[in-house]
Amino acid sequence: APRRKKIYEGKAKILYEGTEPGTLVQYFKDDATAFNAQKKAVIEGKGVLNNRLSEFFMNGLTNIGVPNHFIRRINMREQLIRQVEIVPLEVIVRNFAAGSLSKRLGLEEGTLLPRPIVEYSFKNDELGDPMVSEEYIIAFGWATQQDLDDIVSLALRVNDFLSGVFYGVGIKLIDFKIEIGRVWDNDFMRLIVADEISPDSCRLWDMKTGQKLDKDVFRRDLGNLTDAYTEVARRLGLMPANT
Ligand code: C5P
Repeated sequence: APRRKKIYEGKAKILYEGTEPGTLVQYFKDDATAFNAQKKAVIEGKGVLNNRLSEFFMNGLTNIGVPNHFIRRINMREQLIRQVEIVPLEVIVRNFAAGSLSKRLGLEEGTLLPRPIVEYSFKNDELGDPMVSEEYIIAFGWATQQDLDDIVSLALRVNDFLSGVFYGVGIKLIDFKIEIGRVWDNDFMRLIVADEISPDSCRLWDMKTGQKLDKDVFRRDLGNLTDAYTEVARRLGLMPANT
């Protein structure tokens, strides 16, 4: 029974009014969507895993000084977050070619890129999140040049952190997406990492076998998605030991 006031419902998460001013409760659903919601399924346990995994990554970012919206986990499916004004961009960082980049440039998936590449999509479901340039972003006023400098710097710090954490457990971080929020502290605007960091928004390949441990398992029908996410959580030490 819903006891909190719903603020917004997205494809994989619901936002409720927070327990204190300036906060929201982020609820992780089991729903999975792909190809702009043309493919849909309910995947038992996905929300619980992503809630825990996002907590783990956001806490790690906090510990190395990368500002983000996470405050604390409330229960299996909910976490308390800072309320932000979402910048209407998906910020994608790529280390190896895959997905839409491979398609666009005819690059084999897994090709090492000359350096990490940051790119942007305009967050708009009807349009299918089209890729946009910095020119577009500044011209349409979605962010300023200063904002973009800060966003690139945040994105690359997140990339270094996540790449290292995954490397330590035998996983290659191919690419990922983050979202950025604006907050005001005493009239001073700052940009912080928002939304979630989970295998829903990363590409993760086993270093030895190349096995996919991310949402491509669902997009491409490669097996059981919960098993893949459980394996990621297990390697990161987030699952109770096997008996
Ligand atoms: O599809 P594409 O190759 O552009 O995706 C790059 C990365 O961004 C992938 O890790 C994908 O999971 C993530 N992404 C996302 N949400 C989107 C689009 C991409 O999390 N709407």
